[in-house]
Amino acid sequence: MTALQSKVNTKVFEIIHAENYEEMSRIAAKRMIGLVKRKPNAVLGLATGSTPEGLYKLLIEDHKENGTSYKGVKTVNLDEYMGLDRNDKNSYFTFMREHLFNHIDVNLDNTNVPNGMATNMEEEAVRYENYIHEIGGVDLQILGIGHNGHIGFNEPGTSFESKTHVIELAERTREANARYFNSMDEVPTHAITMGIQSIMDSEEIILLASGASKAEAIKRLVCGEITEDFPASALRLHSKVTIIADEEALSLI
Ligand code: PGA
Repeated sequence: MTALQSKVNTKVFEIIHAENYEEMSRIAAKRMIGLVKRKPNAVLGLATGSTPEGLYKLLIEDHKENGTSYKGVKTVNLDEYMGLDRNDKNSYFTFMREHLFNHIDVNLDNTNVPNGMATNMEEEAVRYENYIHEIGGVDLQILGIGHNGHIGFNEPGTSFESKTHVIELAERTREANARYFNSMDEVPTHAITMGIQSIMDSEEIILLASGASKAEAIKRLVCGEITEDFPASALRLHSKVTIIADEEALSLI
C-alpha cells in the first residue's frame, strides 16, 4: 500500500449504466445542459476524442431546438498536441470548433485550448494553469479514458500533483490516435495537458466510456489500486465523480 492510499478515504464512484453509446451521450448531455441552465456563466472542462462526440452532437441539437445558450459560458480543454498548427485538421483546437464551438452561441474568445505551438511551452503551461484559476476553476470536467488509464494526456507515471505540463505520449496512445493521421510518423510525440491536480481541482467530473476496448480500463479504475501507474485512479480521491459508461465498457465489473 502506498502512503497515499493509507492516507485517504477512497470513495465509491457513482456509476451510471447506459445501454449503449447513444444513451451514454444523452445522460451526459442532460447533465451538462442542466448545469448551463442553472449556472449560465459556468466553466466547462472539455475533452476531445471519439467518446465525447455524441455528447457534443446532442448539445448542438439542444441549442438549436431549445435555445440553451452558451453566451456566458467559458470552456477549457484538457490538452493539445505539440507541433501541430491550430488549424491543422488533427489539432484539438480544430476538433472543438468543428464538433461544438462553431455550432453553438459560445463566444469563441471564451473557449480555450492550450497552444501546442507556443515558443516557450513551459510558459504556456503556467499561463494555461493560471488562467483556469483566474476564471474560478472548472465547474464540470468531461473526461474520456485511455486504454492505459490516461486522463487528458497524463500518461502512466504522471505525478498526481501535476499541473498543466508538457508530456511525451505513450506509444499505446500514439497507436490509438494514429487512426486520425496518414501514418504513425505523423502522430505527434508530445502534447501539453492539464495535469492530474488541475483535473482534480474541478468541482465535478464526469468520465465517459464506451465499448469493449475500455472495459479493462474501467475495471482497473473501479476495482484496482490507486497508483500513478494508472492515472485515472486519482479520481478515486475526488468526491464528485460520475462514471457514465455503456454495457460493453462495464462488462468486466
Ligand atoms: P477516445 O480517447 O475517446 O478517442 O477513446 C479517449 C482518451 O484517450 O482519453
